[in-house]
Amino acid sequence: MRLFIAIEIPEDLKKRLARLRVDIPGCRWAALEQIHLTLAFLGEVDEARLEGLTAALARIRTPEFSLCLVGTGCFHGRQHPRVLWVGVEREPRLEALAARVRTTLLAQDIPQEERRFSAHITLARLKLAMPSECAAFLDQHRNLKLPPFSVRDFRLFQSRLTPRSAEHIPLKTFPLKTRSREK
Ligand code: 2AM
Repeated sequence: MRLFIAIEIPEDLKKRLARLRVDIPGCRWAALEQIHLTLAFLGEVDEARLEGLTAALARIRTPEFSLCLVGTGCFHGRQHPRVLWVGVEREPRLEALAARVRTTLLAQDIPQEERRFSAHITLARLKLAMPSECAAFLDQHRNLKLPPFSVRDFRLFQSRLTPRSAEHIPLKTFPLKTRSREK
């Protein structure tokens, strides 16, 4: 099974993100149900390992936090943009959660990339899109700031590849430590 771990974005914010879509040739916008904040990509994992993996993830009890989506950016540079994303205001608790997920996966012998976690929400993937059109989009939304939202859990998803895109199926939800239980 192809797996990844992500934070769900509230429906109203996803709808606001979907409203940013403009017609850029060569640009494939993520469907509403594909918008999430990826914490880790696991790739192919044998189904037999799912039970041990979910038990290990359930032991993560970092505290809940709130997040604010801010600004836009792209991967691969403005000359050759491949992904358009919305940024996330720095939140040490998000970084702590991503770090715990990473160490948990490594302890489960699930390899993780070396590069450090870079919080983003993919809006679109680009194939040969005009850099100038992408730059115009990025400039227009440079100061984007959406209302904060609470993150109370994270999820393990299966990604089923279809000929056109990928279907994301939530497999399990892992609650974070609530504020009242932090004290
Ligand atoms: P991103 O969109 O946040 O960049 C499910 O495929 C999710 O896993 C994607 O949304 C993608 O995150 C993330 N991902 C990270 N590395 C990946 C890879 N090598 N192949 C596919 N998805 C990957």
